[in-house]
Amino acid sequence: MGTILVTGSLGQIGTELVTLISQKYGKSRIIASDVRVPEHDVFSGVETIKLDVSDSTAVHSAIRDNSITEIFHMAGILSALGERNPDLAFRVNALGTFNVLEAGIKEGVNKVVIPSTIGVFGPETPKDNVPVVTVTRPTTMYGVTKVTAELLSSYYRRKFGLDVRGVRYPGIISYKTPPSAGTTDYAVDMYYHAVAGKKYTCYLKQDTVLPMMYMPDALDSLIKIYEAPANKLRYTIEYNLSAFSFDPMTLHKSISKIIPDFRVDYKPDYRQEIADTWPRTLDTRAAVEDWGFSPRYDLDSMSRDMVKNLREMHVSV
Ligand SMILES: NC(=O)c1ccc[n+]([C@@H]2O[C@H](COP(=O)([O-])OP(=O)(O)OC[C@H]3O[C@@H](n4cnc5c(N)ncnc54)[C@H](O)[C@@H]3O)[C@@H](O)[C@H]2O)c1
Repeated sequence: MGTILVTGSLGQIGTELVTLISQKYGKSRIIASDVRVPEHDVFSGVETIKLDVSDSTAVHSAIRDNSITEIFHMAGILSALGERNPDLAFRVNALGTFNVLEAGIKEGVNKVVIPSTIGVFGPETPKDNVPVVTVTRPTTMYGVTKVTAELLSSYYRRKFGLDVRGVRYPGIISYKTPPSAGTTDYAVDMYYHAVAGKKYTCYLKQDTVLPMMYMPDALDSLIKIYEAPANKLRYTIEYNLSAFSFDPMTLHKSISKIIPDFRVDYKPDYRQEIADTWPRTLDTRAAVEDWGFSPRYDLDSMSRDMVKNLREMHVSV
């Protein structure tokens, strides 16, 4: 058993992933890294290091010096932030992934797990029941860099035999970290406002349907694909994932079943343009067939769990 490096470990997904895998595989096997330095011992006892994935030398050294055998590459610049900072998105998402793959082969890493995204789709992609192999011509810098990451991953697997695997995440909803810079983060923000007793102004139109998933199912999926036998995987990091699709109005209705006086109004901004290029629903059969994708939460059970946990955290906005 070797050592697992997590990049971007202070992000929405990385934070919860480190906690989960340190419980599952042992704290001493995990090294949590991020370009930011944590303010306190966030992972209680897990070793943390500062690592900028856009710095090739630093990525090689981190892998070599810590005898890393496996990597969860979670560092990234999400869609809304990427549109405001395209150069940063390119350096982190495209160059950073190249650095991790290149160091992976040079430093003898056994396995690399990389999340892709529904951001790889674009206006020419079909809107419903989108298959794994389809038109991927995104119009956002986030999408451009994540298609690059998909193609690089497949190339390194085919050309060098590097075991790279991963999923195309939809919008991920969770309560442990505040909403960040993704286009689907309105959903997280809506729960925060509802529990804080505030009205929410949504930056997407009320009928914008997007694929989504609750964090426990997102983590469970990543562990499933990480542990899957390599010979079962037809695809590299292109497995479509989605537990359900909804629009802001439907989410509002689901939350209102628990918090009846919660109010939402709509003021679409530049993120509407990003959302308009993404599909409404995805075909997830390849993930089901190849490694047993099986989400447990539907919209209302997610709403009940989100509200319960945010109430316990006494969140304010
Ligand atoms: N959250 C979602 O809804 C979602 C959906 C689809 C795909 N994804 C993918 O999952 C991955 C993780 O997303 P997330 O939601 O946790 O994002 P996040 O923005 O919450 O976290 C990303 C982390 O990466 C770190 N980071 C930024 N630049 C870095 C650099 N140069 N070197 C090292 N670390 C750096 C940030 O400090 C942050 O902690 C990304 O690849 C993203 O594309 C996320």
